[in-house]
Formats: sequence, C-alpha cells, structure tokens
Amino acid sequence: MGDQRSSFTGKLGFVLAAAGSAVGLGNIWRFPYLAAQYGGGIFLLVYIILALTFGYALMTAEIAIGRKTGLSAIGAFKALDKRYAFVGYIAAIVPVIILPYYSVIGGWVTKYLVAFISGQAPVADASDAYFGDFIAQTGEPILWFSIFIGITAVVVFFGVEKGIEKVSKVMMPILIVLALVIAVYSVFLPGAMEGVKYYILPDFSKFSVTTVLAAMGQLFYSMSLAMGIMITYGSYIKKDVSLESSVKQIEIFDTGIAFMAGLMVIPAVFAFSGGDPAALGKGPSLMFITLPKVFASMPGGTIIGAVFFLLVLFAALTSSISLMETVVSIFQDKLKLNRTWSCVIVLLISVLLGLPSSLGFGAWGDILFFGKMSFLDFFDFISNSVLMPVVAFLTCIFIGYVLKPKAIIDEVELAGKFKRKDLFVFVIKYLAPICIVLILGFSILEAMGIIKV
Ligand code: PFF
Repeated sequence: MGDQRSSFTGKLGFVLAAAGSAVGLGNIWRFPYLAAQYGGGIFLLVYIILALTFGYALMTAEIAIGRKTGLSAIGAFKALDKRYAFVGYIAAIVPVIILPYYSVIGGWVTKYLVAFISGQAPVADASDAYFGDFIAQTGEPILWFSIFIGITAVVVFFGVEKGIEKVSKVMMPILIVLALVIAVYSVFLPGAMEGVKYYILPDFSKFSVTTVLAAMGQLFYSMSLAMGIMITYGSYIKKDVSLESSVKQIEIFDTGIAFMAGLMVIPAVFAFSGGDPAALGKGPSLMFITLPKVFASMPGGTIIGAVFFLLVLFAALTSSISLMETVVSIFQDKLKLNRTWSCVIVLLISVLLGLPSSLGFGAWGDILFFGKMSFLDFFDFISNSVLMPVVAFLTCIFIGYVLKPKAIIDEVELAGKFKRKDLFVFVIKYLAPICIVLILGFSILEAMGIIKV
C-alpha cells in the first residue's frame, strides 16, 4: 500500500464498500446449500447467534486494528507486535486459496446468465441433468471460469474498481428487490410451506458440532472475516466514523441477503423434490439446480432468470475483485513486484489452482479428499473450516491477551461510546477462543474419519 492512503468519504461510503465485498456468492450460493444440508432451522439459528457474537466482535476488532494502524493485515499485526506478524501471513493465504474456486463458481454463474439470455435455459425437469452434464465437461466450465477470472483481472489491472462499484450500487438494490420477489414466489409454490418450516423452525435433534463449524466457517466467509480484508478496509476509514454502528449495518445487510437467498432456494427444494434428503444435500450445485426450476415455473421466468443471474454476477464480481485486489497488493508489497507483474502472477496462480476445482466434477472426479471431498470442497474446507478459524483464534488471543481489548475499545470510542463493550470483551477473551478450539478439533477429527459427531 502506498503512503498516501485514500479514505472513504464517510460512513456510508465505508459501509457500502464493505458490503460490496461481503455480499457475494457466499450469501446467494453458499448459505442456502449449507442451510439445506445442515438441518435448516438449526443452522439458521446457530448462524444468527454466531453473527451476533463472534461475527460482531471479530469484525469490530479487525476494522479497529486496520484503522488504528492504517495498514493492511500483514503490516498491521507486525506494527502492533512483531511476534504476531505470522497471523497476518496466515490471513493473507486465505484469499489466495479462495479466489480460484470462487471464480470457478463465478464461471458457472456466467454460463447460466448466457444460457438464460440466449434462451437455452434448462427446463424444469431437466435442470439436474443440465447442470450435472455441464460441470462434468472439461472444456466448457474451464472456459467460463477463465472468462470470469479474466474480467476480474482486467478490472483489477486497470484499477477500474470504482466503475464496477458504481454499477453495483445500482445493481445491489435491484438484486434485493428481485430476490424478495423470487423468495415470495418460492414460498407460495405448492408444497413449499414444509420447506419454509424446515428453514425457519430449528430441529434440535439435527444439532451437531459440524453444524456449528459449518455455520462458523460460513460466517467468516460471508462477512469477509479472518482473512485480513476488513483490516484493510478499516485502514481507509476516518477516525470520526462510528465503527459499532457500521458493523451493525454491514451485518444486517449481509445476513439479510443470505436469509433471503435461503428463502428462495430451500422452499423450492421441497416444492420440487418433496424435501428429499438427497436433494437437500446437493451441496455446491443446489442453487444451479433449484432456481432454474423456479424460473421455469414462473411467468416470464426466462427474463427473470437472466436478470437474476446478471445481478448475481455483479455481486460475485465485486467480491472477486476485492479478493484479487488483496492478493495483488500482498504480492506487490511482499515480493516487491510492480503492479503489472503482480497481476499477471496472481492471475496465473489463480488459473492453476482453479483448474483442479473445475475438473473435479468431471475428468478428475475420482480424486476425493478424505474419501468424500472434491477439489472444490477441499479448497473450501481448508480455507473456511481450517485456516479461517485458526486466524480468528489467533486474532482473539492476540487482542484478548497481548494487545488487550482496551486498545480496540479506545479506537472504537474515538467516535462515541462503545455500547456492547462487555460483550465484546467476553467474546474475544473467552467465548470465541474456547469454542473455536473445540469446534476445530472435532471437525478435523471428523473429516479424517477418526470420530463421528
Ligand atoms: N464475502 C464474500 C461472499 O460472501 O461472497 C466472499 C469474499 C469476498 C471473501 C471477498 C473475501 C473477500 F475478500
């Protein structure tokens, strides 16, 4: 980062920029399939509890560290305490792992947009096969993945993020309205009420440690936490902006969109497949299989589908741009590369790392990690279920016991009273570190098949 740091013009500018990074495929694609897979209402409940505690405390801490030091993750940890510089480095690895597979999914969205525009959208009863056949191919998904990451790279290379952000400020509200329309339509499909109940009412018999781990990983992912992004955003905020209310607004925005995405998808799974566990457990494919069925049954569905995928593409692009921008600036700073080389190298690495994720549903489909995970699931697992909890844990320990919460509280109080100060201290010092260690331990043992929880 240069010495002349630009800053957001005010609170609104900051909240919108952070929301642009936060709202993306995580909300629209990842949240619904996890909620469907991990018991519906119980997942939603755990997620909301975590958002109000872990999410809120960690986001406040990260933004405050950024604003206090005026630096991005690696520099910020180093400036506060040299011994903890490694936390910044681990955080910096996360976007390097996420960007490639994020772009594979972005490619699927691009393909669906073009299919809907050109009138080749999958019809209702064929959408399972349509999607399955598509991702099982070698060339086509790679082509769409390359287009998506190519657009991202061009935007980052020419530094025209502002242009995209402007467009996305118009697109985002339209996305919210359209998602609302689709959600209402989904909820009233025949047979969908069972799905609404499944999604909203918690069934405690479905609770397990894996539910909490999945919800926690999703929370970090969706809110762009535990990977240094919010530290960087924090470094651009002026001192008189209230961090507490900004965090609240970003969380409401992010969670609201995720909730609505669940409402679009999960009731529809019940309407079309009667809530069959196999249909609910479809994982990464869920959105691409279920939503075309919804669109096929809607009047004007092809147009609605095209508009929907266009909006999702924009949400995905603002997120992938913020991911790539982060990685490019790390390469620039740490390897002392100029921007052009840094962009080229990041693009090459991302394409290389993305290929296995793309091929993992076809040509390389036999390669499974821990006996069950495809490449994409594996990269997703390593970043969301391992590295991000580790970074979150270390951040809590660092702030709770090394830097001390007071440093963060003072930073927050530059713009007025820190209302939920006690909750913040309790979460950072005790609740989050203890829970993260327990959850992480169980989940790794479970993934390796050593225990069954
Ligand atoms: N929060 C984004 C999403 O939910 O889609 C994913 C993401 C974007 C994570 C940008 C990190 C990031 F820097």
